[in-house]
Amino acid sequence: MASNEELFKKIISHAKEYGFVFQSSELYDGLSAVYDYGPFGVELKNNIREYWWKSMVQYHENIVGIDAAIFMHPTVWKASGHVDAFNDPMIDNKDSKKRYRADVLIEDHIQKIEDKINKEVEKAKGRFGETFDEKMFRETNPRVKENLDKIDAIKNRFYPALDRNDLADVKTLIEELGIVCPISGTRNWTEVRQFNLMFSTQMGSVNEDANEIYLRPETAQGIFVNFLNVQKTARMKIPFGIAQTGKAFRNEIVARQFLFRMREFEQMEIQFFVRPGEELKWYEYWKEERLKWHLSLGMPSSKYRFHNHEKLAHYANAAADIEFEFPIGFKEIEGIHSRTDFDLSAHQKFSGKKIQYFDTEMNEGYVPYVVETSIGLDRTFLAVLSHAYREEKLEDGSERVVLGIPAKLAPIKVAVLPLIKKDGLPEKAREIMDKLMYDHRCFYEEKDTIGRRYRRMDALGTPFCITIDHQTLQDNTVTIRDRDTMLQERIAVPEVSAVVTSKIAK
Ligand code: GAP
Repeated sequence: MASNEELFKKIISHAKEYGFVFQSSELYDGLSAVYDYGPFGVELKNNIREYWWKSMVQYHENIVGIDAAIFMHPTVWKASGHVDAFNDPMIDNKDSKKRYRADVLIEDHIQKIEDKINKEVEKAKGRFGETFDEKMFRETNPRVKENLDKIDAIKNRFYPALDRNDLADVKTLIEELGIVCPISGTRNWTEVRQFNLMFSTQMGSVNEDANEIYLRPETAQGIFVNFLNVQKTARMKIPFGIAQTGKAFRNEIVARQFLFRMREFEQMEIQFFVRPGEELKWYEYWKEERLKWHLSLGMPSSKYRFHNHEKLAHYANAAADIEFEFPIGFKEIEGIHSRTDFDLSAHQKFSGKKIQYFDTEMNEGYVPYVVETSIGLDRTFLAVLSHAYREEKLEDGSERVVLGIPAKLAPIKVAVLPLIKKDGLPEKAREIMDKLMYDHRCFYEEKDTIGRRYRRMDALGTPFCITIDHQTLQDNTVTIRDRDTMLQERIAVPEVSAVVTSKIAK
């Protein structure tokens, strides 16, 4: 069994070998934390986006979509707080010359203490068996208590220091905790500095009237500044949502986890506008709804958990992440934030224009409150891909690599394969392909033995293979092979499309 790190490496190389994901500008030795999607990756990515859009926009009468530009007026980012506060505290190790997020170093240290506690609990569980009372053990065991106190002490010092922007104290804490650089193993740290994550560029000619603008670090602001345009033109009544998918850019400091942390990535966001005072009710509603959406992708509930935020972003009065168990551990895949009226009020103030909604039921105008759901498309892609990857030993002793991607998301739905490349089988297969391609994303392949072609389709995650053999020419039937069970059944050619549709829907 591969370790998680080995497994992660295998998934990355599989993604490259089978045309899912390539390093950006690989020809020039690559660009760090930027990736290109290949022929099969783009299909999977499009399918995930479309699945999200359908479930959120098409199936909700009170949610409409927009597609705002990536470039926005620079004041947008002043109003949103990103110019002043979209920072990560960073620290460099003078020996390895590596840069780290200071908060991540401390959180990793806390995680190590938590791991110790969990080990202690697991050991005790084994000792006491069924009579084990975990809650009581955690409250009374001296070693567990000592470690829990350590965590509390770190948090009580660290979060207030970040809130006060007391970076000197964050550095002292790193030193006191004895945190070493994972590369050099030393404690030779620089001061902690704030690092703004936004990329900027110039609009217009550089010399005349150069205007510094930013590449959006989130898609959300395109929705906020269009609030009135959308509400009026689509005649929306509160509560209602505006959805958007699109690219976002962040100059991430720690960026070496494949699609997990990229400098250019894609978000799928909903801003859901509600009455002031009702936001926490809707926040709970969307937390549950979004978790259900993740489960509908077909991955088990044990792979997900909520992480409620202790330290809230400058715009939120409640926030939680949905975390997924990637091969690199449980990590955020989606954020749900109760953003209050922070953004709309800020845009009202900075633009000098009124942004209000008149609630006819209440006979009152107000600035709506907002609950946001924000999911990373690339992280969802990574979740689907890494959960789908499996290596199997077959009964005949051979091995195969399969991507068990849910059929509804699979890049290719059906492979059309003539058993051999003669006797009129390719012609018949082409005839079937020419019709089927209008209903399903198909892939035609006649090269190599049928066994090798099946393996290739397994590795691409293709759920169904249609094989055209000599019997097809006699009775107009084909075999349909299931990727996961590898079982085949015979069906009539005119029924192929409907059979595939019903199997995908299962
Ligand atoms: N509008 C709110 C917002 O942007 P966020 O938690 O910073 O909130 C939302 O980002 C989601 O975007 C994350 O849950 C994650 O899935 C994705 N995301 C954020 N930074 C990312 C990065 N550098 N690379 C890939 N995905 C990222």
